Amino acid sequence: MAAMIADPEEYFRGFVPPRDELLLELEREALHERIPIVGPVVGELLYILARAVRAERILELGTATGYSTIYLGRACQEHKGQVISLEWDEGMATRARRNLAKAGLSDRVEVLVGSAADLMAEMTQEFDLIFMDIDKEGYLAALPYCQHLLKIGGLLFTDNVAFQGAAEFNREIFSRTAWRVVPLLCWLPHHSPEKDGLSLALRVL
Ligand SMILES: C[S@@+](CC[C@H](N)C(=O)[O-])C[C@H]1O[C@@H](n2cnc3c(N)ncnc32)[C@H](O)[C@@H]1O
Repeated sequence: MAAMIADPEEYFRGFVPPRDELLLELEREALHERIPIVGPVVGELLYILARAVRAERILELGTATGYSTIYLGRACQEHKGQVISLEWDEGMATRARRNLAKAGLSDRVEVLVGSAADLMAEMTQEFDLIFMDIDKEGYLAALPYCQHLLKIGGLLFTDNVAFQGAAEFNREIFSRTAWRVVPLLCWLPHHSPEKDGLSLALRVL
């Protein structure tokens, strides 16, 4: 039998992707203020996914200070894509806009203030990728809008699906023929997804 690396989480901690000073500053702020940002490994996963599918129209639910939004904005730069990010806290939205300006992404990203479900109910455009990271009890209500706004073949990437608040959402999406879904419960340094999980869903119908 193949031998495993003794402590894979600690081992892969040594390979955390490099970040610029702006992202490092947002990580320090998040630690200090207990803002639940995705962190560098999930940020990198978002970037890779968005670039791999050549996403041009990206919707994010839950902006906070704009940390994950910067990864998404940078990922769609090559294809001159656009990100719309939804945040119900006006103060957070203001901070995010300031950080996105520092990242040179103001033209590429729009932060809208309001409840994600309410804002999505008013939208008509189609998206290639949706990243969901709002309050977990809001996931179930947001799911029909995600299905409506995501193109067939589009990706829904959802954070924290192992939180109890996401249980109804999980039951729903795993039972729907419109989605092919995989939970990602692996070791990701600084994120503890072995506790709070991620899922990746493809809209097939
Ligand atoms: C987990 S944080 C987002 C972190 C961000 N995605 C990152 O990784 O950098 C969730 C954010 O979503 C906002 N939020 C929570 N529920 C919401 C909802 N139903 N509609 C809009 N914003 C919501 C909160 O105010 C908070 O700033």
